[in-house]
Amino acid sequence: DQEGESAENSKQAQLDEVRENSEGEKLTTDHGVKVSDTDNSLKAGERGPTIMEDFHFREKMTQFDHESIPERVVHARGTGAHGYFQPYEDPDLGDEYDDIEELTKAKVLTNPDQKTPVFVRFSTVVGSRGSSDTVRDVRGFATKFYTKEGNWDLVGNNMPPFFIQDAMEFPDLVHAIKPEPDDGMPQASAAHDTFWDFASLKPETTHMLMWVLSGRALPRAYRMMQGFGVHTFRLVNDDGESVFVKFHWTPELGTHQLVWDETTKLWGKDSDFNRKGLYDVIEEGYDPEWELGVQIFDEEQAEAFDFDVLDPTKIVPETEVPVRPIGKMVLNETPDNFFAETEQVAFHPGNVVPGIDFSNDPLLQGRLFSYQDTQLNRFGSANWDEIPINRPIAERHNNQRAGFMRQEINEGTASYKPNSIGDDDPQEVPEEEGGYEHFAEKISGEKIRNRSDSFEDHFTQARLFWNSMSEPEQQNIVDAAHFELGKVDRMEIRERMVYDLFNNVDHEFAKRVAEGIGVDPPDEPGEEMPTHDREDPSLSMENRTP
Ligand code: HEM
Repeated sequence: DQEGESAENSKQAQLDEVRENSEGEKLTTDHGVKVSDTDNSLKAGERGPTIMEDFHFREKMTQFDHESIPERVVHARGTGAHGYFQPYEDPDLGDEYDDIEELTKAKVLTNPDQKTPVFVRFSTVVGSRGSSDTVRDVRGFATKFYTKEGNWDLVGNNMPPFFIQDAMEFPDLVHAIKPEPDDGMPQASAAHDTFWDFASLKPETTHMLMWVLSGRALPRAYRMMQGFGVHTFRLVNDDGESVFVKFHWTPELGTHQLVWDETTKLWGKDSDFNRKGLYDVIEEGYDPEWELGVQIFDEEQAEAFDFDVLDPTKIVPETEVPVRPIGKMVLNETPDNFFAETEQVAFHPGNVVPGIDFSNDPLLQGRLFSYQDTQLNRFGSANWDEIPINRPIAERHNNQRAGFMRQEINEGTASYKPNSIGDDDPQEVPEEEGGYEHFAEKISGEKIRNRSDSFEDHFTQARLFWNSMSEPEQQNIVDAAHFELGKVDRMEIRERMVYDLFNNVDHEFAKRVAEGIGVDPPDEPGEEMPTHDREDPSLSMENRTP
């Protein structure tokens, strides 16, 4: 346990080194010169112009002028907290596996004596940094585990499927969902033509849309929200054997949501409702907890499913593979400084540790490129990993050097390998001693852009979701569709949503949506969208908007 405590404390100790509390201290410039007046600039006489040599004025203003950095291109608005993760002793893995070490060598998941420090950032996706919390949106749930074997980032969402199947489509999805490019509106909600236009032309979004129209998109509190790794990942054991895994966070308090009327009132009354909620409970000592669960399945099971486990628009139903709880996360400390910690934290799905690996999910594969790339833009330098919130507690030694704002003072003459001039090279670590080894998956194939056939089934799981809802939950989804699609100006988009997407999910559902948004309800399942002369006045917005 002592070992665990020391890992937990080591991140705090690292942060403590750079914590600064100026309370009661004398005011100085950034260069340590004591300041006698910070309110009045130096002037040529009482009514004269300000003089350039006023170094304190220039420094104060320059620092201010350069305070802002680009916000995240998605997930701009969020809040964070520190805590720890601890694996359970001997978790129940069902009949197939006795011991979690059979599945993975990642000690962060297997050693019950070890508390691993974590930093979690919750976020909305679409809105800018200053938007409102309680909008209809997906929520990010990103966890950085500072493990002794390096940082592992589980960069997940509060819904288990995703909108699209391939990273190549992500810029289009985000352009469609962000404010429209001509007028910059709407700020944060999905209720606009471009998003629903894109969705209606991309039936693969259907399953995720069902979740987004449900109460899942309106979480009551971050501490009452599930989290999902979304993609299929791999666990790898000491013998180099691998199984597939899906990660699930389950909140101790249960999963709860707001209703639409509450959310809209909250936009006005307290746009920080979710951010403040998390901060306040931790400050008051009610530390929120989540259980980490895993769904484990092997290649053979994966092949038997009627969907592809590499397709991120699909989930692995819990009726097929149960979720096995393997550990607990507690968030117990708020950040001291929003910018230094919550804003500058940089997650990356590519940050994995030995025992955790990727699958070939084409969305995940693209994410492995995107996060580092965008962080170069956000931080302006490759040295963001030196920022205290991003530094691992594991030791770092390599020949990576220099760049803007480099902090480390690397000693020695040679920063290359091999070298023969006497400097001690950092040594590579064999796999059995903890060197990261990618799972030796056999790959062969032609270079093609196609996906496997089951990627074309866009409706089966959307239907399962609809059928799993109680009547009031179904009514909420219908009401949400009325509100969202009722704000779409173009009739053909509303019609495509009803005929091309919803009518393939469930005929009754499609009819109920159609009736509230001025679309002629389909007579039967699978019916083709009617063709209209759109000049027909009966189809004009005035006659159609509910
Ligand atoms: C943030 C890209 C899909 C979860 C981001 C950021 C980018 C990005 C560029 C901003 C990162 C930063 O500035 O630090 C992508 C791409 C995707 C994708 C290209 C698909 C190809 C997903 C999926 C999930 C997800 C499927 C959930 C499993 C998140 C979260 C954040 C984020 C939680 C916020 C991290 C934070 O709190 O700092 N994503 N994303 N993204 N993404 Fe993705």
